[in-house]
Formats: sequence, C-alpha cells, structure tokens
Amino acid sequence: MTTFGVIGTGSMGSMLVRKMVETGQAGAHEIIAYNRSAEKALRLAGETGVRIAPSARDVAEESDVLLLCVRPLEVRGVLLDLRGVLTPDRLLVSVASDVTLNNLSAWSKARAVRAIPSITSECGGGVTLVAFGDTASASDRHLVLSLFGAMSSPVEIAEEHVEVMTALTSCAPAFIAALMQEFAAAAVRRSGIAPAVAERLVRETLTGTAGLLAASGTDFEGVIARVATEGGITRMGVDVIRQGAPGVFDEILVKTDARHDLVKAKIRETGP
Ligand SMILES: NC(=O)c1ccc[n+]([C@@H]2O[C@H](COP(=O)([O-])OP(=O)(O)OC[C@H]3O[C@@H](n4cnc5c(N)ncnc54)[C@H](OP(=O)(O)O)[C@@H]3O)[C@@H](O)[C@H]2O)c1
Repeated sequence: MTTFGVIGTGSMGSMLVRKMVETGQAGAHEIIAYNRSAEKALRLAGETGVRIAPSARDVAEESDVLLLCVRPLEVRGVLLDLRGVLTPDRLLVSVASDVTLNNLSAWSKARAVRAIPSITSECGGGVTLVAFGDTASASDRHLVLSLFGAMSSPVEIAEEHVEVMTALTSCAPAFIAALMQEFAAAAVRRSGIAPAVAERLVRETLTGTAGLLAASGTDFEGVIARVATEGGITRMGVDVIRQGAPGVFDEILVKTDARHDLVKAKIRETGP
C-alpha cells in the first residue's frame, strides 16, 4: 500500500484529494492530510473520509508520496522544517509554481517532482504539467503519470518551459473565461440584451465548442473553417480577432513572465 500525504488543503490540495479518492487512485484510508488552519482539513475529511494529522511532520513521516500544496513562498519553510523526515526513500510532488526542482532538492532530500495541475481536473479535463527531477525513478514516473492521468492529461515537460505552458494550461481557464465575458459584455453594449442572457449564450457555445474539439478531434483551424466561410460574416469577425488578439496575448505573457520573475526573486530572498 502507498500512503499519500497532503500538506495544504486549500483550493488545489483539496481538489487533488477529492479527485484521487473519486478516481480510485487512492483509497481514503491511504491519504493523510494536514492544513495550517484546521477547518479546511476537517471539512475535506468530512467530504472524503481521509485522515487528518495533527502536524505536517506527522503527514511526512507516514507518507511514501508527499503532495505539497502550499503557496510558493511557503514551500521553503515547510520543507526545511521536515528536512530530517524527507529522505530519498520518499517522493515529493510539489504543485507550487515558481519553486524549481533545484529549490526542492536544496530544501529536501526526497526524490522530487513538480506538477502544475489545472482546476479543470475537477471535471476530469485539462492538462497537468509534470517535470521530473533527476532522482525520480521509472516507478515514480509511472505513479505520478497515472495519478494525474486519472483526472487530466498529464504532459511531461522540460522545466525551462514551465511558465509559458502554465499560462496555456493552469491560468488559461481564467483567461478563457475573461475573454468570453468580454464577448458577452460587448453584445450587451451593442444591443441592450440582458447580461445574464448574453453570458448564457456564450457559455453554452463555449461548452459546445469544447465538445466539438474533443469529439471530432478537430483542431482550432478546423472549427474556424467549418463556421467562417471565405468572404462571410463570421470570417470578418475572425479577421478582427486576428488583428487585435496577438497584442493582448503577447502582453499577457510579458506580464505573467514578469510576475514569475518577481516571485522567484522573492523565493531567493527567503534564503538558499
Ligand atoms: N489554484 C490553482 O489553480 C493552482 C494551479 C496550479 C498550481 N497551484 C499551486 O498550488 C499551490 C496552492 O495554491 P492554492 O490555490 O490551493 O492556494 P490556497 O487555496 O491558499 O491553499 C494553500 C493552503 O496551504 C495551507 N498552508 C499554508 N502554509 C501551510 C503550512 N505550513 N502547513 C500546512 N498548510 C499550510 C493554507 O492554509 P490556511 O488555511 O491556513 O491559509 C492553505 O489552505 C500554490 O503553490 C500554487 O502555485 C495552484
């Protein structure tokens, strides 16, 4: 039996625990969790039946695989506190953005993996980015890819590309929702239709488009070609997007990159 420990049961940690239990990747009795504020952990235990430990150390001591789901600036403190416990016989899976594999191996002796999940795993979709440290074994790879494969499409990546890929996967649900919100708002400004009606129309269309992409294996260009005939009204709209959107997305990536650099600098300031 593999025991999974989870430290930090906020938004991401609790979603991962729920999905692990729901998909049968781990039985509730195989998961032990701890959160700094007790209520969140107790709520999760009530929902899923997982065990709650009195401290992060208790979780680490019992775990074969430790999922670390605290915020990036909190990772170093947690790992240094557990330094004696996180030995090479344990697997550490950190979901924190901006905490590198080098950071993880400087702060703990456990075999290290970085995973960047997406909230879309909640409905069994989207991508989990995975970067393995040098000490991860073939069976670690199998375990991690199977764990995240049960709730998403896991994609193994080179760590150097993690930030831009995080924008495309983990941040993207918010970007896509914000874009669609603007589309609906423009229709409201133009016509005076009720905002709730505009949002519903766009939301249903977004879900339908995702279904079309998934069901037919069509790529974006294929969907565009099916709707936007040359010289037609839809094609005109596509052309407008192709003029305006590149600047928006370039700016998103410039700004998100700058933010990653800032967080990494803050992490460096906390010590080696
Ligand atoms: N949310 C996403 O979509 C997403 C996607 C990819 C990666 N991530 C990564 O996931 C990590 C967690 O993000 P989140 O959105 O889940 O944040 P969150 O909701 O704030 O969860 C973090 C949790 O960690 C707990 N915590 C903090 N220090 C702790 C400690 N020393 N021991 C035990 N628990 C501790 C916090 O407890 P309190 O209740 O006391 O604050 C909180 O419940 C981040 O590193 C983020 O980069 C998130």
